[in-house]
Amino acid sequence: MKATEDLKYQFLINNEWSKSTTDKWVNIFAPETNELVGSVPAMSQEEVDKAVRLAKEAQVKWADTPVHERSNLLYRWADKLEERKNEIGAMIALEVGKSPSSAVGEVVRTAEIIRYTAEEGVRIHGELMKGDSFPGGSKNKLALIQKEPLGVVLAISPFNYPVNLAAAKVAPALIAGNTVVFKPATQGAISGILMVEALVDAGLPESVVNVVTGRGADIGDFVVTHPDINMISFTGGTKTGQDIAQKAKMIPLVLELGGKDPAIVLADADLEHAADQIIGGAFSYSGQRCTAIKKVFVIDTIADELVSKLEAKIQKLKVGKASEEATVVPLINEKAADFVEGLIIDAKSKGATIVAGGSRTDNLIAPTLIDHVTDDMVVAWEEQFGPVLPIIRVSSVFEAIELERKSEYGLQASIFTKNVQDAFALVSKLNVGTVQLNGKPERGPDHFPFIGVKNSGLGVQGVGRSIESMMRDKVMVINL
Ligand code: G3H
Repeated sequence: MKATEDLKYQFLINNEWSKSTTDKWVNIFAPETNELVGSVPAMSQEEVDKAVRLAKEAQVKWADTPVHERSNLLYRWADKLEERKNEIGAMIALEVGKSPSSAVGEVVRTAEIIRYTAEEGVRIHGELMKGDSFPGGSKNKLALIQKEPLGVVLAISPFNYPVNLAAAKVAPALIAGNTVVFKPATQGAISGILMVEALVDAGLPESVVNVVTGRGADIGDFVVTHPDINMISFTGGTKTGQDIAQKAKMIPLVLELGGKDPAIVLADADLEHAADQIIGGAFSYSGQRCTAIKKVFVIDTIADELVSKLEAKIQKLKVGKASEEATVVPLINEKAADFVEGLIIDAKSKGATIVAGGSRTDNLIAPTLIDHVTDDMVVAWEEQFGPVLPIIRVSSVFEAIELERKSEYGLQASIFTKNVQDAFALVSKLNVGTVQLNGKPERGPDHFPFIGVKNSGLGVQGVGRSIESMMRDKVMVINL
């Protein structure tokens, strides 16, 4: 069964695609052309409630389903997604304004994550502990520690990877024996619906995944605080993540939020390599990635050389339409473009030098390099999520570390140096989830742990860690 009639996409409960009784729709417009891509139902709270309740009922049987069968469902899902990679990729490209090649790449990467999850999940066997390893403990006690699912997982995905970051929550939840209520970001919801359509085609049992759509303002708090939601995995903005953390009570949360990832370029770095990595890290998909490089700390003595290399590389970036494979493309919406433009204006008014870019056409911001950024400028601290790269010149690595430690974010950081010992010394001083040595920040390979500290998140993702985050220990003590 199809999820759409004309351009009206439907929600999924109990493996049935339905329209909302509200008969209200949320329209989704293409970032590139502003044309209508389609609409998704603005569901009522009663409908969301039904989605959660049925997911809860279905969970008991799903948890009882042999793990290898759950794993086989994931393999079939991955195959279905790959069969439809061009069609689903085309929808991602249209809906979130991403280049067709990276959108298709997103679907393929998603299938790989799902397969890896299917493999990883069947190897979870729990643990056995002997009582006499603790002082005073008896060898007549054995603890059998099994892994159990948490129940119903609420998966909330962002616009920038509407399929990949959704499946990276749904697949581990399923292999662990949880059922899922999936709430896609509005922009990206259609791509998420197509992803679930492939899962239904793969043989999804009824209500093991239900899809809810609508405005966050109408159903967001309702679903987040629903008493039958047992865990929330959210990727999106820091403010929303903090709001969820305040409202959701006594349930585990995994939050992947904003970032302000620095590239720290030391005096002995290979500047050509560093510049290539920084440009790729800062500007791909217009910097609309949590792991984009969002500022550069560079030692004074090499700053001029680095800036001129960056400037030259920026001139070579393809700017324009995502549909024509540009790297720098219109931002997701006008509000985002207004915000980024405001950061440029603020920095300029406080004395920064606009080395490249600085202009805006509709929602397309030219790739912008801002030199001599100082700590009184907003762009030094706030996440731009746009194609703007601030350069902060520092006299020493200690100054860079001191500034970095004041950041509210702590996702990843890159260090560029030829001296591995210096790099090791820095790693412990950076309060971030991951430090990349001589490479740009990135989430993948997708089995690596992916962690945000401070306002960048809570908990750990990456295939194995995501599965663990959706299970709990159940201990049986055998008294011999
Ligand atoms: O936007 C947040 C994503 O988790 C970043 O993923 O590093 O693969 O672009 P990525």
